[in-house]
Amino acid sequence: MCSLGHQKHAAISRYIKVSLLTVSLLFIINAANENSLLQKARHRFGVIPGKPPELTKNPLSAAKIELGKMLFFEGRLSANGSVSCNTCHDLAKAGVDNLETSIGMNGQKGNRNSPTVYNAIFNFAQFWDGRASDLQEQAKGPIQAAIEMNNKPDQAIQTLKSIPAYAGLFRAAFPNDAEPITFENLAKAIEAFEATLLTPESRFDQYLSGDEAILTEQEKRGLGLFITKDCATCHKGINLGGLSYHRFGVAKKPGDTILPPNDKGRLSVTHSASDEYVFRAPSLRNVELTAPYFHSGKVWDLKEAITVMTTVQLGVKMKDKEVEEIAAFLKTLTGKIPTIVPPKLP
Ligand code: HEC
Ligand code: HEC
Repeated sequence: MCSLGHQKHAAISRYIKVSLLTVSLLFIINAANENSLLQKARHRFGVIPGKPPELTKNPLSAAKIELGKMLFFEGRLSANGSVSCNTCHDLAKAGVDNLETSIGMNGQKGNRNSPTVYNAIFNFAQFWDGRASDLQEQAKGPIQAAIEMNNKPDQAIQTLKSIPAYAGLFRAAFPNDAEPITFENLAKAIEAFEATLLTPESRFDQYLSGDEAILTEQEKRGLGLFITKDCATCHKGINLGGLSYHRFGVAKKPGDTILPPNDKGRLSVTHSASDEYVFRAPSLRNVELTAPYFHSGKVWDLKEAITVMTTVQLGVKMKDKEVEEIAAFLKTLTGKIPTIVPPKLP
């Protein structure tokens, strides 16, 4: 009786020991898995910093940033005074216009969707085809584009010179220049302002910073798929994109609606046949808010955009559940959109 009780006791304690071991092993394996997902993510992506990066060729100053902000909202940079940068990159709407393709002066419609200006500083080149190497070069484009602001650099500078308050604002921003109101300086001021257009503190960034519990299991599965299915080969870095060029249609050419045949992408920049239908992988930061998608702006639904990507870039079919998981993950990229009060223009 007594020895039976003893045996029973020993069996129970063995059972408890084995269970404890199993539980702690599972815990360790789980933790390692979690860690490796976080580590894989840290290896491929980066956190949006809370303050603007240093610009080596264009040092930031409060006066320059303030001037850039005014110019960003300045309709008088367009030929008829009606269109500003903010018209198509509405800072209150995640830096986009939420239109298929943008509408410029006199209601003219362009042929490309307006990308967001938020976090654009982290892209390695600007525009869908990368034809501007940085934001300074980029800013000169729309002022002169016929269907956007339709202006001439000299004309834009004449207009600014005719508004007395700009003399002081440019002098404060460029104190060492004898003649501060130039097209070059206008572009520098806009670049400086754009460097401050950041959307930090997304849930994904909090995860990358070590708060593993902030993502749901579904979102983590989506992140895992985003890495294992190779989305992250092209959508990498701080912006999950903006750092490389790829053919739109690596595995299968998209239809003419999504990929209009006459817009040949980087071919028009490099004139190299191998760049036909090659575009810069766009940033996926705040993608939840920046519909419609693709350079043609033809797709309004995020899950549909993901399905297009799996078909045309990867040549695979994904289960609905997986597409939903990736969509859930992409929504964790929505950061804090700063409140930017439109300045009082002189
Ligand atoms: C009429 C609408 C319109 C106006 C006005 C406009 N943009 Fe754009 N912007 C676009 C479109 C469309 C694109 C993409 C064009 C392309 O890729 O060929 C673009 C691209 C950009 C990009 C590149 C972003 C990226 O990820 O590649 C930046 C930055 C930008 N614009 C800033 C500005 C600034 C600064 C101004 C004012 C000086 C301005 N835009 C005026 C529509 C506009
Ligand atoms: C081979 C490179 C490559 C791979 C792999 C890839 N993408 Fe893309 N992605 C691109 C390019 C290039 C575009 C821009 C296409 C265009 O509009 O010209 C794009 C566009 C997108 C867009 C639209 C964003 C916008 O603002 O318009 C989304 C969303 C997207 N990709 C998600 C994904 C997902 C999710 C995966 C994995 C299932 C993936 N991508 C795989 C290169 C890639």
